[in-house]
Amino acid sequence: MDGDVSIAVKTSAPMAGEPMQDYRQVLKHGIMPRTSHDDAERFNFLYHLNRHVRGPVMAACRNAYENRVEPAFEKEKGRKPKNRHEARKAMLTEPMFQFYSSLRRASMEQRQQAGRWVALSQAEELRERAAAYADDDALQLNPALTTPRYVTEVDHHCMPGSYYTEYMEDDVVNGANYDVGFFSSFGGAPTMSGPGEGMVAWLKAYRPDFKPKRILDIGSTVGHNLAPMAMAFPDAEVVAVDVGAPVLRYHLARARSMGINNIRCVQADGADLSMFEDESFDIIQSCLLLHEISYPAMRAIFKETYRLAAPGALVYHADVGGYSDEQSLFEKAMRDWDAFYNNEPFMSTLKDIDVFDFFADAGFKEDEFFHASPLGYGPGKAQMGEGRLPPKLAALPGLNLFGSRK
Ligand SMILES: C[S@@+](CC[C@H](N)C(=O)[O-])C[C@H]1O[C@@H](n2cnc3c(N)ncnc32)[C@H](O)[C@@H]1O
Repeated sequence: MDGDVSIAVKTSAPMAGEPMQDYRQVLKHGIMPRTSHDDAERFNFLYHLNRHVRGPVMAACRNAYENRVEPAFEKEKGRKPKNRHEARKAMLTEPMFQFYSSLRRASMEQRQQAGRWVALSQAEELRERAAAYADDDALQLNPALTTPRYVTEVDHHCMPGSYYTEYMEDDVVNGANYDVGFFSSFGGAPTMSGPGEGMVAWLKAYRPDFKPKRILDIGSTVGHNLAPMAMAFPDAEVVAVDVGAPVLRYHLARARSMGINNIRCVQADGADLSMFEDESFDIIQSCLLLHEISYPAMRAIFKETYRLAAPGALVYHADVGGYSDEQSLFEKAMRDWDAFYNNEPFMSTLKDIDVFDFFADAGFKEDEFFHASPLGYGPGKAQMGEGRLPPKLAALPGLNLFGSRK
């Protein structure tokens, strides 16, 4: 199928001009930490601050770039900035960029501290609630697993201890923090499942009769975007893989408390899934994983997915698109912000490559490639097609889907 399709992509996060949201609308489930009035208002304040920074303050930055930064660069060098790195560096001494950057960084750090306060103060209770859901072999942890260095080196998006650090036995704190505070940094969305819902809508439109028996999701975290898939295919066996134990404990409890009973959570590195047999999955997917992993990890993960995909399987990854000439240098430089100031180094490097080259290196065939864009959040209706992601679609803000049949 090619071209525009009117699939029901749900844009969970309100876009500019849409009504403001309230923290009390966030999806509650059996393992969500309790929040007081003051906690909710703190998350509301941070959401409003973020919205202001990404709206009017960002617009003022663009104005400053076009009217001060670029002309000053041109005056000094006799040419315009060559690439996004030069454009970003030129902005470093611009007061409006400094204002934007410090507000965004501070709001991110405050969001993490607000979430950690809530999660840490209920750590024991949350651990017991999670344990009550993990009463069978649906939670398979591997304490001997080595967490990859590209994960341990970075406190992703200013999240202390990232996804894997444990503070006590059977801990779920870092999973709880991730879940309880996404509202503030994810645009005031009531769930963080918009991308997953978009992926289900895409799949139903792309392959209406496809009935996968086994689904593998790599880098599942707490399951925000796997839950819609597990609910859409209740008869499928769904395997969630992640390197982090706290997020997996939280994941299983969250899913079960929402009535989702077909998910198994396995602690493993996506680069070595030797516990699963060759050609044993009909769908292999990831959502927002690629922008947090290194090139060697990506290569190894793509190779594993090729081995694990059954003939005719669909393998796809939803993540940010690349850069293209359709975007201005200012836009590209600002989209790099997370890489330099929000502990997301691979957010930038992912945009320097064509994800489809990694499919090809792993053995997937060029004429089996497909794409979709934008998915789950971002403006416009979903578009999908055969082949690699065209630059015009890669330029759209929002999430793209990079895929191949096997
Ligand atoms: C941004 S989160 C993904 C969000 C999640 N998929 C969702 O839709 O809500 C990235 C996750 O990938 C995990 N991860 C990173 N490298 C991994 C690897 N090599 N194998 C498995 N999981 C990995 C991290 O622990 C983290 O939980």
